[in-house]
Amino acid sequence: MFIFKSAVLLHSELTRLQKNGRSIGFVPTMGALHQGHLSLLERAKAENDTVVCSIFVNPKQFDDEMDLVNYPDPIQTDIEYLRELNLDYLFHPDVDQVYGPDYVDIDVPLNGLDLVFEGEQRPGHFQGVAKVIRRFFDIVQPTRAYFGQKDFQQTVVVRHLIQHFGLNTDLVVCPIVREHHGLAMSSRNERLEASKRERASFIYKSLLKLKERCYFKSLGEALEITTNYLQSIEDANLEYLVCVNGVTMQEVKSLDDADYIVACTVVEFGGVRLLDNIVLKDNLNNP
Ligand code: PAJ
Repeated sequence: MFIFKSAVLLHSELTRLQKNGRSIGFVPTMGALHQGHLSLLERAKAENDTVVCSIFVNPKQFDDEMDLVNYPDPIQTDIEYLRELNLDYLFHPDVDQVYGPDYVDIDVPLNGLDLVFEGEQRPGHFQGVAKVIRRFFDIVQPTRAYFGQKDFQQTVVVRHLIQHFGLNTDLVVCPIVREHHGLAMSSRNERLEASKRERASFIYKSLLKLKERCYFKSLGEALEITTNYLQSIEDANLEYLVCVNGVTMQEVKSLDDADYIVACTVVEFGGVRLLDNIVLKDNLNNP
């Protein structure tokens, strides 16, 4: 595995490979790798000639300074995982390589996708994600880029970014990898005690129930039952449970309102914000 810290050197190396007709799969991460990240890398390996993973804790997407300072940084363990996977390239830049003097800091037009749900909870977060992804796409020029369904709104923002700038990159959204009891894997789960982690599986179980219910009740009724249930859980604080058009992030009232519908939730449990979602309808990818 080659480790690059320099954006310019990585760019010229990858340009050389592309000129030789090699496809490039790209998996951006912030490190502290777990099975969720590894599933993206495995998929990228299966579908491309060369795979690049980035590990960069992007300061622009943190609205809370302490969250940034406390973000885990187990770089040596991460490198070992990536070597075991036989990864081709790791891009592990310092901040000045990403946002150096040549970087022009302008907002990316996101059509308001960055202002709702997670964007509303974390002002500036999706602008920060869009800026770093745009910059990384300039450096890597990937044939395909891999993102997890786990951060659903992020995938909607990246799809919009690709379309807006007419980029020549295919977005590949990979399924959520879960712990054996059902909790979606996340670096934040480390902050939950083991017993709480298992109990937190109520989130996924209630999303599965919602999906089951919405086929024999109205979406509104199904949502109400699940919302009431989530609000009744001890120690849990339901931030939101919404069903959205999976392209525009606009709320839907019925399953007839869009071709692609996703139920998204955030529950604070044991002091940790836990994100999860489930696809209720997908006539776009599975017509
Ligand atoms: P990070 O949180 O490190 O996640 C990197 C990628 O792994 C994201 O696409 C995320 O959705 C995916 N991922 C995380 N947990 C997953 C799980 N349980 N199952 C499947 N995929 C999972 O997301 C970011 O970093 C940053 O915002 C980034 C895109 C790197 C931009 O800075």
